[in-house]
Amino acid sequence: MLRNCYISSQTMKLASCTTALFLLTVLVLAKDDVSTTKKPNFLIFLVDDLGMGDVGCFGNDTIRTPNIDRLASEGVKLTHNMVPAPTCTPSRAALLTGRYPIRAGLASKTVNTMFGCNACTGGMPPYEITFAEVLKEAGYETAYLGKWHLGIHSSYQDYAYLPNNQGFDYYYGMPFTKINECADPPNGRSSVMQLMRISKLIYYWATLTVVLYSFVFVSKWFNIVGFRGSLIMFVSVTLFSYLLLKYPESSQRFLCILMKNHEVVEQPIRLENMTVRFTNQATSFIRENKEKPFLLMMAYVKVHTALFTSKQFAGVSRHGQYGDNVEEMDWSVGKILDALDQNGLKDNTFVYFTSDHGGHIEEVAVEKGREGEREGGWNGIYKGGKSQVWEGGVRVPTVARYPPSIPSNTVISVPTSTMDILPTIAKIAGAKVPDDRIIDGREMTGMLFGKDKIAVHDFFFIYCGPWIHGVTFRPDEEGIVYKVIFTTPKWTQGTQACFHTWLCQCKGRFVDQHDPPLVFDLTNDPGEHHPLKLTGETKALIQKAKAARDRHEKAVEPVTDQFSLYRSVLFRPWLQPCCNFPYCSCKEDNTDM
Ligand SMILES: *[C@@H]1O[C@H](CO)[C@@H](O)[C@H](O)[C@H]1NC(C)=O
Ligand SMILES: *[C@@H]1O[C@H](CO)[C@@H](O)[C@H](O)[C@H]1NC(C)=O
Repeated sequence: MLRNCYISSQTMKLASCTTALFLLTVLVLAKDDVSTTKKPNFLIFLVDDLGMGDVGCFGNDTIRTPNIDRLASEGVKLTHNMVPAPTCTPSRAALLTGRYPIRAGLASKTVNTMFGCNACTGGMPPYEITFAEVLKEAGYETAYLGKWHLGIHSSYQDYAYLPNNQGFDYYYGMPFTKINECADPPNGRSSVMQLMRISKLIYYWATLTVVLYSFVFVSKWFNIVGFRGSLIMFVSVTLFSYLLLKYPESSQRFLCILMKNHEVVEQPIRLENMTVRFTNQATSFIRENKEKPFLLMMAYVKVHTALFTSKQFAGVSRHGQYGDNVEEMDWSVGKILDALDQNGLKDNTFVYFTSDHGGHIEEVAVEKGREGEREGGWNGIYKGGKSQVWEGGVRVPTVARYPPSIPSNTVISVPTSTMDILPTIAKIAGAKVPDDRIIDGREMTGMLFGKDKIAVHDFFFIYCGPWIHGVTFRPDEEGIVYKVIFTTPKWTQGTQACFHTWLCQCKGRFVDQHDPPLVFDLTNDPGEHHPLKLTGETKALIQKAKAARDRHEKAVEPVTDQFSLYRSVLFRPWLQPCCNFPYCSCKEDNTDM
């Protein structure tokens, strides 16, 4: 076109050339302007069940996580970052909303601490405000990739709980959690059966069946129905009970699904290349949105069981299938960070990497040749694991990078929480934090940017269901971090886990109540080996923790219990997502990577 400008003598052409040049100049200037004043992007990595001991930069010298280590060396490592509830659903809600999950009804006196099906009516209430909604208000493009586990429908086909209704423009992932049933080939374990055992659903089933049969019997006895009527009723009850009992076996199809926004794109999910698919989705999102401010949340369906890797990661680590899973996850983190570099976004993107809670110690392989191999995470020097008040349950490996604001190669060892991320993101983006509700997280840019060293949290509460099992706090600004523990799970003898229930429980005969409570000096005894002697000083600490707990509990308003059995396990067939009724069987195209 420029050549045309010289060789053409026609005024019309000259005019159009001039206009084109002018527009080009404006565009170049505008682009420059965009890149200098463009709001920062946010990239959040959330790993499922990754333990404190699973990552190179957190002291593991045999597993290879070069990409997470790179993040840490270019940013800050948070060595005492905690989640307020050590199971998937409530921890995820807390991260997204900056609030204790009990405020959203995600804490229940029932045995449930998570959702049990895709066709249940429980979920994180849409009135909760996520950081995606906060950023949406500030003009961001937003996407959520991966595991959600915060519900789908509240009633028939309303998609009320999906990420799309919580500020995310785009969603691609598993709305449920990845369970053992999703394994292909099967790994010999059933998470649904385990859950049915814990929640005693099997007894409910038996009771229901007996009640229904009695009803048929009584109806016939008193001649309320005739012979044919009672026969039909008898057959229906038998069929109904049988299907209910068989449900766990077919749960792969019902629970292990992949969705893109409101559409089911794979059923059941084929895990093998899933990490590659997520990685490709993430890098294309970054490429497509490099001109706009964006939020990308990558919530891996790793390193939770069922374990899976693509072929090139099978057998590469020194730590069996579990190690392979960690290393593939790290590879993906690297690919996504590379996409930032390649699009010139490294310095304008706040990256946060964390896990939803500690490793699930009770997950152990049963297949021939692999019996007893650990399949849950490794919590390093920390005691206990997933679903426990101990540090192994609540402390999560966390790294943040935001050059140049966050100085490289730094460490923050004071207590912080995943709930801090919402107010922190809002501050960096210049967006508004919701002011019509309590936000429990604290804005921590001062500390991240190396400007002040003061702990952002005074009292941090560790929940198990609706009960506070422990309180972590630092009475003096520069002093020791203490933890007061009221309740601990009863372990299977000789272990630090609850193999008898598969996940430690929160109440009743499954826990020990401590009176007086246990007090630990976490600064000098992070492994929680030696409870402090009961002196005047420790008594004062206990008093402080109790007073703070009572104050906090008083300020929690009662809301609908999302984990009631009615909402969290009662299967409603009409709510089941299905890609092609009645088969509910389909594959996503182009998944060979
Ligand atoms: C490193 O991680 C693997 C996998 O979880 C674990 O088996 C191993 O014990 C860890 N090593 C250290 C030194 O923590
Ligand atoms: C994953 O990709 C490989 C090619 O790398 C292909 O052979 C395999 O069939 C794919 N697996 C699935 C489940 O799509």
